[in-house]
Amino acid sequence: MTSPARKVSLTGIKPTGEPHLGNLLGAIQPALRLTGQYDSMYFVADYHALTTVRDADELARSSRSVAAIWLAAGLDPERSVVYRQSDLPEVFELSWVLSCVAAKGLMNRAHAYKAARDLNQGLGRSDLDAGVNMGLYNYPVLMAADILIADADVVPVGRDQLQHVEIAADVAGSFNHAFGDRYRLKIPQAIVPEAVAASVPGLDGRKMSKSYDNAIPLLSEPAALRKLVRRIATDSTGVDEPKDPDTSVPFQLLELFAEPQLAADVRGRLAAGGMGWGQLKDALGDTLVEALTPIRTAYHDLMRPDSDLDAILADGRDRARERARPVLEGVRSAVGVAAKH
Ligand code: ADP
Ligand code: TRP
Repeated sequence: MTSPARKVSLTGIKPTGEPHLGNLLGAIQPALRLTGQYDSMYFVADYHALTTVRDADELARSSRSVAAIWLAAGLDPERSVVYRQSDLPEVFELSWVLSCVAAKGLMNRAHAYKAARDLNQGLGRSDLDAGVNMGLYNYPVLMAADILIADADVVPVGRDQLQHVEIAADVAGSFNHAFGDRYRLKIPQAIVPEAVAASVPGLDGRKMSKSYDNAIPLLSEPAALRKLVRRIATDSTGVDEPKDPDTSVPFQLLELFAEPQLAADVRGRLAAGGMGWGQLKDALGDTLVEALTPIRTAYHDLMRPDSDLDAILADGRDRARERARPVLEGVRSAVGVAAKH
């Protein structure tokens, strides 16, 4: 990293939930491809998860786990900076400064907070803020601090996070308006990386999602993978009858993970009536086992207590802090709390 000519991209990953194949193709791989174009920083947003998680062991484990998944999926710690949000005290100091320039009304309109209030309203509660902690309310300010402390140019996110990046840009503008004659924060730009597949289908044919109970977890063991594949809904077309590959969920999944030559062969056999659903599912099971085994193996290696994971995160922390320090110094000096003023 740190070639002065290249722009910097920053991605935050909240450590919650078990990732599935849709997350791999729709979020992880597209974000990893950006390393070709940007100096990339990836961090585990563990303090963002604290707005909901109440179990220390779970938070610690899922933070290591999400870092291990991204590394196993191809994140190269030599080329990119990988760190844990909680390892950068600079983020939290900037977060306070930003909350002193951010408009409260802007936070009232943030999606996550509005959704919590709408839920309370739907339940007929008189206190619309019931169950809302200040962490949830301040979530976009902390996210702005993550982005602005890294002096990031672009922030690749899914559509659900676009509003938060816009808020970060807005808050940076407010800071610059108040203190810009002394120090200016870089205004970040959100980008939505192009997905390998717009939508990876789940076992029931709907979009794969953890909320539909139709997901194939990325870290499934081979036997579990094959069992899930057998659950995929198919129609009653007979073995020898021609089938439309493009409306078949097992084929769509096969095409996303198989070598192009294999996918083309299977496509031909289905269309010609030379392959039954059972055979297709066997081929898909083999394909997924082959495609996912390297990721799963690398993941389990990284999760061992003696792996390189902690050293990678410590190195990432040092590199990220190097980038954060001058920004915080500029901000401290601009607002009037620097040692020498
Ligand atoms: P879920 O629907 O399982 O809760 P998330 O909302 O956590 O998934 O998804 C995180 C990211 O993963 C999203 O930004 C989206 O880009 C990607 N993603 C999730 N499901 C799919 C899918 N079925 N196909 C393609 N991309 C997906
Ligand atoms: N809020 C993001 C999510 O829920 C995670 C996140 C935290 C983030 N800080 C960030 C993403 C900074 C991009 C930049 O997925």
